[in-house]
Amino acid sequence: MSTAPPRLLVVDDEPDLRTLYELTLLREGYEIDSAGTVAEALAHLQARQYSAVITDMKLPDQTGLALLRWMDQAGRPEKAIVITAFGSAENAVEALKAGAYDYLTKPVDLRQFRLVVGSALGRQPAARAAEPASAPPRAGAGPSTAQRLVGESPPIRAVRALIDKVGRSMAPVLVQGESGTGKELVARAIHDHGARAGQRFVAVNCGAIPENLLEAEFFGYRKGAFTGANEDREGFFQAADGGTLFLDEIGDLPLAMQSKLLRVIQERSVRPVGATAETPINVRIVSATHKDLAAEVAAGRFRQDLFYRLNVIQIRVPPLRERLEDLGLISARLLARIAQDAGVSPPPQLTEAALQTLARYGFPGNVRELENLLHRALALAGGEWIDAGDLGLPDTLLDDNRCDSVLDALEVPMTAAPVADGLSLPEQLPTDLAGYLDEVERAILLRALEQHRFNRTAAAASLGLSLRQIRYRMARLAISVGEN
Ligand SMILES: Nc1ncnc2c1ncn2[C@@H]1O[C@H](COP(=O)(O)OP(=O)(O)OP(=O)(O)O)[C@@H](O)[C@H]1O
Ligand SMILES: [Mg+2]
Repeated sequence: MSTAPPRLLVVDDEPDLRTLYELTLLREGYEIDSAGTVAEALAHLQARQYSAVITDMKLPDQTGLALLRWMDQAGRPEKAIVITAFGSAENAVEALKAGAYDYLTKPVDLRQFRLVVGSALGRQPAARAAEPASAPPRAGAGPSTAQRLVGESPPIRAVRALIDKVGRSMAPVLVQGESGTGKELVARAIHDHGARAGQRFVAVNCGAIPENLLEAEFFGYRKGAFTGANEDREGFFQAADGGTLFLDEIGDLPLAMQSKLLRVIQERSVRPVGATAETPINVRIVSATHKDLAAEVAAGRFRQDLFYRLNVIQIRVPPLRERLEDLGLISARLLARIAQDAGVSPPPQLTEAALQTLARYGFPGNVRELENLLHRALALAGGEWIDAGDLGLPDTLLDDNRCDSVLDALEVPMTAAPVADGLSLPEQLPTDLAGYLDEVERAILLRALEQHRFNRTAAAASLGLSLRQIRYRMARLAISVGEN
């Protein structure tokens, strides 16, 4: 590794601002080149490589977004930081989607400027770096979290590829999926993949905290702020400073708290209860929900602006029934872990019949349910093999004539089924029929999109829809794909 100071490229058309940024960065010990237009920036980038690029959004010849897209397409390794006009959430979100590492809003707060640049270069906040790490990075023991997310089905590969891509940026990620699908595992993998891996990962279950304690828990408090506050205490944001804050079950956050959270995200600073001053914070936010947040927004239970801020990158973790080909791999991984915890060695294996029986089960509780089921099965089987009968599943699943009974239950003629080929039908008539139909529609849209390499126009045409119609349907089902 070279010891030369990091070299940064600053792109802004206002000479005064450029000078301000340059002076600030020089004082931090960086070397600086600067450019006043996108064309000049490109010339610099073609001549050499930088540690990071800091660019204004509005430039005389093109936008900062064009520069980002060029960098992305050229596979440039530089982290990009974008400076956007005040209050322009749209620009910030667009920039993050286009691959920016992070953004700053005008007028730029210089302290924050230094923090964000430092974070892009992998320099940790001084306070955190000096502190002994409470959870040292795993020392080679056990598989990394991304490896723990096992499966070779196309949807799970896509999830892993996305984790790999977003790990390196600060863009907020919303992990969406039914309960037990592995949302937390995905959130941890995002953290472990980025430069923040050595820092803290703080997981918060938003639905489990009493409403009156939310503010103190999130932002901390000062001694004397309320009865019982006998000493200063840091909140989740301070605890996660420099690392990742995982907001689980974000859909359960009450509206009043949603506004406060939005403010913190915009200001990047928190004010502990009872404090007069704000503390700057540098956390990456990953949130998760099993709810359809877009529908929550439509119903007035979730703030649209917060949704927009949190949902910059969406990762949908598919239900287990959409990746049944992974059952063998996932079961083997879970059995290895369960057996190890139980001191059983070698771990038992599933017989072919057991595997087939599992594949017939709908797994409404997803991987977590599979895990519980295997726990019981291991205890029941007690030998080297787990057979179908050890699984504790209804006898009706043990043989193969399920299809008729499901169709009977659904009371649909055989001819209605083909549209959903490749989808498994539920065991019983779903109580949430609208939700089930949404899933079917979603699967059809996703498949068409995949088949057309996420080109919406082509995917729409293949389904006999117009671009407008597919856009509408995708928005309704919160399906987002990259630009094309
Ligand atoms: N692809 C996978 N491979 C191996 N194990 C997995 C996989 N996905 C999930 N798991 C395991 O399944 C269990 C449930 O995962 P996790 O807690 O991440 O799900 P979740 O979506 O957050 O669930 P909940 O809705 O219950 O909070 C965990 O023990 C996790 O390690
Ligand atoms: Mg969870």
